[in-house]
Amino acid sequence: MKKSIFIFLLFASMHLYAQQTVNIIPQPVSLQLNNGSFTLNDAAVIKYSLLNKDLKAAAELFAASVKALAGINLKHNAASSKTIELAIKKTEGVGDEGYLLNVSSSSVVLSANTKTGILYGIQTLLQAMQPKSASSMQIPAMTVKDFPRFQYRGMHLDVGRHFYPVSFVKKYIDFLATYKFNYFHWHLTEDQGWRIEIKKYPELTSVGGYRNGTIIGRYPGTANTNLHYGGFYTQEEVKEVVAYAAQRSITVIPEIELPGHSSAAIKAYPWLSCFPNKPTDMKKNPSAFSKLMQETNGEVKEVQETWGVFDDIFCAGKESTFEFLKNVFDEVLPLFPSKYIHVGGDEAPKEHWKVCPACQARIKAEGLKDEHELQNYFITRIEKYINSKGRTIIGWDEILEGGLAPNAIVMSWRGEKGGIEAAKQNHQVIMTPSNPVYFDHHQGDPSTEPIGIGGFNNLKKIYAYEPVPKELNAQEAKYVLGAQANMWTEYVPTTQHVEYMVLPRMLALSEVVWSPKEIRNWDSFNERLQPHFTNFEKKGWNYSRGNYKVDIKTNAQNGQLFATLATEIFKGQVVYTTDGSQPTTTSTKYNTPIPVSVGQTILASVIVEGKIESPLPTKFVVEEKK
Ligand code: ACM
Ligand code: ZN
Repeated sequence: MKKSIFIFLLFASMHLYAQQTVNIIPQPVSLQLNNGSFTLNDAAVIKYSLLNKDLKAAAELFAASVKALAGINLKHNAASSKTIELAIKKTEGVGDEGYLLNVSSSSVVLSANTKTGILYGIQTLLQAMQPKSASSMQIPAMTVKDFPRFQYRGMHLDVGRHFYPVSFVKKYIDFLATYKFNYFHWHLTEDQGWRIEIKKYPELTSVGGYRNGTIIGRYPGTANTNLHYGGFYTQEEVKEVVAYAAQRSITVIPEIELPGHSSAAIKAYPWLSCFPNKPTDMKKNPSAFSKLMQETNGEVKEVQETWGVFDDIFCAGKESTFEFLKNVFDEVLPLFPSKYIHVGGDEAPKEHWKVCPACQARIKAEGLKDEHELQNYFITRIEKYINSKGRTIIGWDEILEGGLAPNAIVMSWRGEKGGIEAAKQNHQVIMTPSNPVYFDHHQGDPSTEPIGIGGFNNLKKIYAYEPVPKELNAQEAKYVLGAQANMWTEYVPTTQHVEYMVLPRMLALSEVVWSPKEIRNWDSFNERLQPHFTNFEKKGWNYSRGNYKVDIKTNAQNGQLFATLATEIFKGQVVYTTDGSQPTTTSTKYNTPIPVSVGQTILASVIVEGKIESPLPTKFVVEEKK
């Protein structure tokens, strides 16, 4: 009897061991699962040198996360046989950001060369934790060696088109920390709103921080809300965000757009424009455009209520523009310790500069060829000032036109071309090609998705992205610092919607920029992804199920049409109907291609573990095969 219980227990524990998995995203460089697990309960103690402020801060962050996740109160530095030890010490083979982690049934030992490495190890531990009982969690025994592939792993957020409170910006930073991103690119100024307090120019925010309406629907809009809309971050709030990010080893890069995307600043201070008395949006007012040189009086500037690119940009001829920008950067730089400062440079139409006497005089005086060289003059002059403060500028790839400022880093967004060109000119580059890392593009079937800007960047496409263009040789490839996803927000009015757009796509990108290229594996990622959805739900993070659409294709065989229904969801089962009714868990399960006829409607959904997971069924009407 006793023997059979023993054998049963032995098998049960072997079964448990065989079941043991961890679902770390991004996938660590190497992870070896061992026998057993570490039990995390109120008896566990976190141990670290109290002399090290960074370790203390990291330990507190870990303890707070464990408390929030599992209600467990970890003791600090008490006597115990169950310890989680954090140590910053010489750790071979993991560089500045990596870590070594050893979990056994009696201890957890995490070591790194830096606080950053410790924080990443902590994220891995948090992801590996699994519920064991009502009052305990377990961490599978494992040995992990981990470090990032790229030094720049970024996420951007446009707070100009829509404004989000500090509490949300911090939540967004939590997303970055969880998935081991290290740069938060904060797009702070736009045509539709200036979002950072500048004390010398209070009207940048009191006037430029608000617009009188917003278009409804897709550009050009079906109507206007006519609602006063806006907001801005005080310098104290900016400091709070920067400090919050720094505690998580995330650097905040501010973007102050110049010379374009500057309608809000121009509304506040019209003398920044070549034509202070001209309407900001000439396209909205063609007669004003045709009479460009004819002065108008009155309130003609506006904070934009629609989207797009606007001709009214900072004047490159007047000294007052450069004085203004110098004063702005004198307040911005002390707020952001970042080595990198983004100055925009994209989408700056040259229409005004072509007809502005001051800009033309500047072209002549400086011996410039054209308005593109004038843009180079503008950016280079700003760069010189920012370099003089010990910082480096980043600009969108348009800064290549008319010549690149000497030390600038290029952010390649119009595909990879700008990045390739910059790397070949020995300039550092950050890859952010709109295809596939613009997260304002659709991620699922547009018919089931919220209104968006267009494009289609689904999870699989992002996962397949390779940041080093094949056109670069090994030497040139070294100039690729990494990659970033951009979260533009014209069509993203709420914080929940931002979450929906970046989750889970940023998880795919995290693996692209962190994990070794050779171990990237879509099926493995897809399998590891599912538990993260559960975690999102637990934490109240809104996420998209855009990839729960069903891919439906037809082909003809011997005169008969067959439909193939596919899902990329791990363990997803497609169910479908052909009579127009909504698929349910009891609908026909798809196994092999189904014979169909022209005109027939297929509605298909994905079920996972007995639950319909597709937000809406995918609808497909069979057409004649050509
Ligand atoms: C951009 O998307 N205009 C950088
Ligand atoms: Zn001008």
